[in-house]
Amino acid sequence: MAGALYKKPILFAVVVTIAVLVGTVVMMALPMLSASMHPKLAHLKPYTPLQLAGRDVYQEEGCFYCHTQTVRPLKAEVMRYGDYSKAGEFAYDQPFLWGSKRTGPDLARVGNKYTDAWHYVHFDTPQKLFPGSNMPSYGWLSKYPLNPGSVEARMKALGFPYTKEEIASLPGKSKLDALVAYMQSLGTAVARAPKTPLVAPGERNPLAGDTQAITEGRKVYEMHCVSCHGPDLKGDIAPPLTDGEWLTAKGPIGDDTLFLLIAEGTEQGREYAGRKAAGGMPPYRDYFGKKKIWSLVSYIRSMEEK
Ligand code: HEC
Ligand code: HEC
Repeated sequence: MAGALYKKPILFAVVVTIAVLVGTVVMMALPMLSASMHPKLAHLKPYTPLQLAGRDVYQEEGCFYCHTQTVRPLKAEVMRYGDYSKAGEFAYDQPFLWGSKRTGPDLARVGNKYTDAWHYVHFDTPQKLFPGSNMPSYGWLSKYPLNPGSVEARMKALGFPYTKEEIASLPGKSKLDALVAYMQSLGTAVARAPKTPLVAPGERNPLAGDTQAITEGRKVYEMHCVSCHGPDLKGDIAPPLTDGEWLTAKGPIGDDTLFLLIAEGTEQGREYAGRKAAGGMPPYRDYFGKKKIWSLVSYIRSMEEK
């Protein structure tokens, strides 16, 4: 019977078309009816004028040649970058900036990962924060002011809501300010799962006083921390780590708090063991394991002025 069908090209074409259509409906259309395929994103908002201007800079500079903006639902990606991308997250992206090549890491979840100050240092000299980085410097973008008229025209063309105040706040802002605002908006429509703390309250440094750990800690410090905290922990654009003053208050802090500061970084106004942070310390937990962080704690302790 099947053999006879092969000899009737027109009928065969019709049957194949029906088979493909049925497959399409089952694989594509049916799942679209299920609400779990397109969860409502409670925090999804159109771009503000400043963020939209930053998105334009992202395109002008071809950041997508090195960065993607989509986390695939694969275990390794979710572990590294966070929750996989949802379709709704791109509702306001025209065009999409998913990219296809990762010379640098995916940026879909980079919003709120670091502070603004971190981004300014990183865009100016990526190698200050990641010594081996091949990302070019974009510090020069700060010399290029935004054009409020053209930003407003784009907002209108895309039909995004905006206020006169938002446009009025653009003069004096540079392309770099816009790019940082755009970075901070990425991936924020999806609620983040809180990360499990790496350290228990009151936990003591298991590597305290260990000479090997101190040497290892010094190496890590010189790679990652020296640019802000200065040589020999004496301070530079960030406070010294030798003066017995932590978060602008004198007096010792526990190993657990020191660990937490390095692992989680600081946010303005957040309290760490009863001390208010000014903010600006980047988080390192995604880059270092527990052992490296404890080695840093050993090194910092070994350099404290007695
Ligand atoms: C030549 C490739 C290249 C280009 C072009 C490039 N980057 Fe990068 N980028 C990297 C690499 C490699 C890293 C990882 C090392 C580092 O952070 O410097 C990175 C890291 C980053 C990070 C930190 C991500 C994280 O999660 O730690 C951000 C944010 C970033 N880039 C934004 C940009 C933006 C915005 C542009 C365009 C203005 C850009 N990059 C252009 C290669 C590139
Ligand atoms: C981009 C600059 C920057 C880098 C890089 C950096 N820090 Fe910080 N760090 C800061 C700032 C700013 C503060 C002050 C934070 C605050 O008051 O909230 C700080 C605070 C701290 C504190 C609390 C000290 C105090 O006196 O309040 C410790 C401990 C610390 N950093 C350790 C490190 C270590 C270890 C590294 C490297 C793994 C590192 N930092 C890399 C900017 C940086």
